[in-house]
Amino acid sequence: MKKTKGIILAGGAGSRLYPLSKIYSKQLVAVYDKPMIYYPFSMLISVGINEILIISDENTLPFYEKLFGNGNDLGLEISYALQKEPNGIAEAFIIGEKFIGNDNVALILGDNIFYGNISFFTNAVKNNKIATIFAIYVKEPERYGVIEFDKDNNPISIIEKPKEFVSNFAVPGFYIYNKSVVEIAKKLKPSARNELEITDINQHYLTQGTIDVIKIKQGVAWLDCGTPESLLDASNLIASIEQRQGLKIACPEEAALNQNFLTIEKFKEYLNSIPNCDYKKYLENILKKYKDYENIK
Ligand code: TTP
Repeated sequence: MKKTKGIILAGGAGSRLYPLSKIYSKQLVAVYDKPMIYYPFSMLISVGINEILIISDENTLPFYEKLFGNGNDLGLEISYALQKEPNGIAEAFIIGEKFIGNDNVALILGDNIFYGNISFFTNAVKNNKIATIFAIYVKEPERYGVIEFDKDNNPISIIEKPKEFVSNFAVPGFYIYNKSVVEIAKKLKPSARNELEITDINQHYLTQGTIDVIKIKQGVAWLDCGTPESLLDASNLIASIEQRQGLKIACPEEAALNQNFLTIEKFKEYLNSIPNCDYKKYLENILKKYKDYENIK
């Protein structure tokens, strides 16, 4: 089975969140109790990915480096790359060419949050042949790339922010490809809004009949945090669930431990680097769940 690496695209203009995005990109802004980027970061770990490239702008990259370092303490390999200008989502594959090499790649947008049973994403990562994208039912599809299906439910086209109704199925910001995506991205022409469009990449695969479109079942929440309203909604939702359950959503340390990316010994070492706080208490409680904890102590 081919290895899959992960890219988080975490730059962008962030104009709709100004002035929150004035000093650094929006993915450092808090969604309830952690920086926004923790959510896509944890998602990549949760689907079994431990080699991650974070792409952002010049101002923000040093902050991410401070936040995550090389990731080795969590059993990860994290690297960083610059996107000089927000030239479009598809530019991630040109910037990430070396990183991708001969492997598969999963791209996640830095402001996308998924919540619920995401095991189908893990399966999709394992089973990707050439290209895999997802389709999720939304009330306002005109804000996204939208998939048109024929009467037999086969995808026939993908339209970016359609002015006329196409369907309620939007494409969320998590995409899986094999290395062919790099050459396709290189051949793209900028769109009318002067961006290299991820929709053009997906449309290319669709025309060739090489893309799998997986409809996400009811019960999985997809949030993006691009506007003040959606940011507040996401914070409120995460807060309610976390406070009710006493479980954290998007805790990278927990995800890495669940994936066996690090040993319990290393996890305990890592805990020493965290100041005394509720987050640390949460991580200490996770340790208690692992039955060999007592023996190691
Ligand atoms: P968007 O939310 O579409 O764009 P934006 O961040 O520029 O925001 P605004 O429309 O308010 O100006 O981007 C989706 C995600 O992709 C987001 O996490 C930012 C990221 N992104 C980049 O890092 N580089 C890019 O060139 C683009 C277009 C987006």
